[in-house]
Amino acid sequence: MSTWANLGLQDSASPLMEQLIFFHDHALLILVMITVLVGYLMFMLFFNSYINRFLLHGQLIEMIWTILPAIILLFIALPSLRLLYLLDEINEPSVTLKSIGHQWYWSYEYSDFNNIEFDSYMIPTNELATDGFRLLDVDNRVVLPMNSQIRILVTAADVIHSWTIPALGVKVDGTPGRLNQTNFFINRPGLFYGQCSEICGANHSFMPIVIESVPVNYFIKWIS
Ligand code: CUA
Repeated sequence: MSTWANLGLQDSASPLMEQLIFFHDHALLILVMITVLVGYLMFMLFFNSYINRFLLHGQLIEMIWTILPAIILLFIALPSLRLLYLLDEINEPSVTLKSIGHQWYWSYEYSDFNNIEFDSYMIPTNELATDGFRLLDVDNRVVLPMNSQIRILVTAADVIHSWTIPALGVKVDGTPGRLNQTNFFINRPGLFYGQCSEICGANHSFMPIVIESVPVNYFIKWIS
């Protein structure tokens, strides 16, 4: 989870989030290089004293500074498209979780196992345990097996919500009347915190998501 002074991304807990971090660093590096170059050129313009009264056009340099940025943009666009389609890939999920957004809590259904269903509410500050995380912990956690492909179906009952877990690289809108799908693979055990990220009303900030990632045999024990 994110704590104080964490300005970057959270540590990844899934292969897709790892790829997202790599892409972020790659794009940021290109951005920094462009900013430094353009900044240097703009700064140096102040000290330029070369004047050419007969200069009206320079077709070669215009060709270069039109095509070169286009090629640089391709270095961002192609990896971006690769990731976009990778995120959309569904690889034979072993568990399907359905999460439904409500004002203002999430409810979950495990349709594969006897239709287990429950609501997940944020724990209010005055009822929080001493080791609990304020505005982040919930009464009923989503338990999921690690090292397995998990499919999630997201929808909403009233207004648009968004099921977002930064460490897993998941962010899916829950929209009334629609069923959105995505998948992920958790590669370590632990608690992963998330929040609704679609402005959904007065208590938008108070419908967090907690995923408890456990080994598969623990999950089977929990589900039965
Ligand atoms: Cu639900 Cu914001």
